Amino acid sequence: MAIEQTFSIVKPDAVGKNVIGEIYSRFEKAGLKIVAAKMVHLSADKAGEFYAEHRERPFFNDLVGFMTSGPIMVQVLEGENAVALNRDLMGATNPKEAAAGTIRADFAEEVSANAVHGSDSPESARREIGIFFSADEIFSRS
Ligand code: PPS
Repeated sequence: MAIEQTFSIVKPDAVGKNVIGEIYSRFEKAGLKIVAAKMVHLSADKAGEFYAEHRERPFFNDLVGFMTSGPIMVQVLEGENAVALNRDLMGATNPKEAAAGTIRADFAEEVSANAVHGSDSPESARREIGIFFSADEIFSRS
């Protein structure tokens, strides 16, 4: 299995709960390396660009409002099968449906405030990483 990179966000609800470190620990214990990271407070324009594919969905304004409500951590995770592995660690989009032991089951209550984001494919990962990081900010350790 080739080494892959994926893009991850610790969302405003999880930053507010002071569990950045606990979430990072889940990544590291699963074998993912954090090869880039920063804290940012999204503008509505940047949140809209990031979630552009969801612009027509009924929750779009709520999603942008939530994602701009406080600071977030953005990071690039690297490892074997990183995209799928991170999605497994996160659990289902709706925390009420997330499997026990997943990040969303443990740190989130609502689909509208679900602790973490993770790219859904290597192509999405490349696009999303490019929105937040330049090449010289990513320290690949593969
Ligand atoms: S997924 O994971 O892309 O298949 O999930 P999807 O259902 O398509 O949701 C896309 C993103 O929108 C968020 N979402 C919501 N935000 C606010 N309110 C409601 N009701 C809602 N439903 C879904 C969901 O968390 C996804 O965000 P990301 O950051 O991609 O996880």
